[in-house]
Amino acid sequence: MHIHLLGTGAGGGFPQWNCNCDNCKRLRSGTIKSSARTQSSITVSGNGEDWVLFNASPDIRAQIESFPPLQPARKVRDTGICSIILCDGQIDHSTGLIILREHDKPWDVYCTESVYEDMTTGYPIFNILGHFRGVNWHEVSTEQDSFTIPKADNLVFTAVPLKSEAPPYSPHRHNTVPGDNVGYKVEDTSTGKNLFYAPGLGVIEDHVYDYMANADVVLVDGTVWTNDEMSRHGISDKLASEMGHLDQSSKGGIKDTLSSLEKPRKILIHINNTNPILDEDSPERKQLDDAGIEVSFDGMDIHI
Ligand code: MLT
Ligand code: MN
Ligand code: ZN
Repeated sequence: MHIHLLGTGAGGGFPQWNCNCDNCKRLRSGTIKSSARTQSSITVSGNGEDWVLFNASPDIRAQIESFPPLQPARKVRDTGICSIILCDGQIDHSTGLIILREHDKPWDVYCTESVYEDMTTGYPIFNILGHFRGVNWHEVSTEQDSFTIPKADNLVFTAVPLKSEAPPYSPHRHNTVPGDNVGYKVEDTSTGKNLFYAPGLGVIEDHVYDYMANADVVLVDGTVWTNDEMSRHGISDKLASEMGHLDQSSKGGIKDTLSSLEKPRKILIHINNTNPILDEDSPERKQLDDAGIEVSFDGMDIHI
């Protein structure tokens, strides 16, 4: 399986357009060892030709230009993207669907019923796309039933329900239902290897831990180092946990959990611009290095 990381930043990207935090400021002035990151999205392929897009970020246009396998090559209007999976209905994960409105046929979009509800009510992107070529919705079960996708050769997908938070405009905000946020196991039947991907993870429940422990690569929520990171920077009084993200540094946080896993390669994704781990010379980044945990970057390729 080819895994290409199109966007490794959280909502807003890095630097964020209106952000003057230490990281964003230092990136703009070229005084931080780091790199810019677009918003959260990855793409996977079993055959190297047909690609499943996980999440459609507002930066999808630039992301496609950065990765030739997604670009038109066979006819006048064309794409290497065969289908789209949404992990949730957040702005950073779904707004790119609007950018992709010129598709020459309905988009095959895979998501849970609750995300479908977000996409047809609170943030009615599917309704808007109905005025173009439309959306061919494929309901994803929250019962951990595996499924395959046409053209996605050798790949088997399993949605893993997660405890996180529904978007602010969701009918389920503060009253989440299973399916508001899911992670994915993606297995390549030709290599027997599997990826566990969860860009928004609020609580590591037992079933989630098992998926992580049995994966060859885990690509999980790297949003914040500390739960109060936004208020520390004077940005917002919201805790990361209130937005459905588990921090890295607390006891039982993402770093502790990943450190306890023996099998997988461990990589953080969906990194917020305030997170000190974006600075490759920071002590926080050193702690991750020492724990064998990688910080993803745009354009990173993984083969399993
Ligand atoms: C999140 O991951 O919590 C959201 O994407 C935040 C946002 O961009 O509004
Ligand atoms: Mn996000
Ligand atoms: Zn910033």
